[in-house]
Amino acid sequence: MKAVVMNEIGGPDTMKYVDQPEPLVTPGHVLVDIAAAGVNFMDIGVRQGMAWNDMPNPKILGVEGAGRVLAIGEGVNDFTVGDRVAWVYAPGSYAERHSIPATSLVKVPDAIDDRTAASVMMQGLTASHFATDFYSVQPGDIALVHAAAGGVGLLLTQIIRMRGGRVIGRVSSEDKIAVAKHAGAEHVIVDIKGQFADQVLRLTGGEGVNVVYDGSGPTTFNGSLAAIRRSGTFCWYGPVLGGPGPLDIMSLPKSIKIGYATFFDHIHTAELFRARTHQLFRWIEEGSLKVSIGGIYPLADAARAHADMASRGTTGKLILTP
Ligand SMILES: NC(=O)c1ccc[n+]([C@@H]2O[C@H](COP(=O)([O-])OP(=O)(O)OC[C@H]3O[C@@H](n4cnc5c(N)ncnc54)[C@H](OP(=O)(O)O)[C@@H]3O)[C@@H](O)[C@H]2O)c1
Repeated sequence: MKAVVMNEIGGPDTMKYVDQPEPLVTPGHVLVDIAAAGVNFMDIGVRQGMAWNDMPNPKILGVEGAGRVLAIGEGVNDFTVGDRVAWVYAPGSYAERHSIPATSLVKVPDAIDDRTAASVMMQGLTASHFATDFYSVQPGDIALVHAAAGGVGLLLTQIIRMRGGRVIGRVSSEDKIAVAKHAGAEHVIVDIKGQFADQVLRLTGGEGVNVVYDGSGPTTFNGSLAAIRRSGTFCWYGPVLGGPGPLDIMSLPKSIKIGYATFFDHIHTAELFRARTHQLFRWIEEGSLKVSIGGIYPLADAARAHADMASRGTTGKLILTP
């Protein structure tokens, strides 16, 4: 089969579209024919050597996707050949086929196509976790959402709106304003220098926001601190784009609560994973959550998808099709 591997740590040019051995279906696993694989910043982080360093190169990139069950491993009772399934955190997903632990799979309803399902596994679970478990958005709350036209940002904005919250978005260029507003952002600030806090304070009558969602790297960190109201919440989530470095807890202002949010810490069993994914699928079926796919690339062009994502020129979710 064909797959996209990284041969060494480095830029997109280290990614190669090559022949790989067919995966074997082992006990507890399900062999899947992949229809759509999601591109995540996490994949860029792996390529840059921020994770998976204990796995030898060459290794197949990608952790997320959707497709159809081809074969069932011993001991798997909850899937049958032909089922449509989706997954997240299954390393090796930039490929035509993959053998995936059954506990990482969820069935996809008929009404949801493969690309849409693949689009919400990482970013949708992340967004729903952020707006519920990490900070339970209440009616009337105001949130600052960074990278508001990105994959997480568009889904998070809609989920905050569903819960009765209001959203101020921050994007890097004018052409993303309409995209963020279409998802429900009330105001959209264009900034790449970390100088958005004054505008946020003006828009909130000097008080600041109840919650900031910031995965945008060190440039935004201090502005995000300044934009939070007293005893507000700082949801930091961007390991790949970088953090603020060591923090002196006594330097944190206004009795804010701050934490690094990762959905896997709350959604850590197959039951929780399936329940939360089904909730996302229900929202999509009802029409209350719209999934915006900003780019569909042949699997062979995964390196171009990585370069485009890192260029800040894309919006929504990027998908690879084997
Ligand atoms: N903690 C978790 O559980 C979790 C889960 C998923 C993702 N993440 C993190 O969330 C971040 C977004 O990842 P994603 O895969 O979900 O993609 P995404 O939400 O689609 O993010 C893409 C957005 O990131 C911004 N961006 C791109 N390059 C940038 C750069 N060099 N510097 C600053 N901003 C840049 C762009 O927004 P603007 O150009 O408009 O700023 C772009 O729209 C990453 O840091 C990732 O590690 C964390």
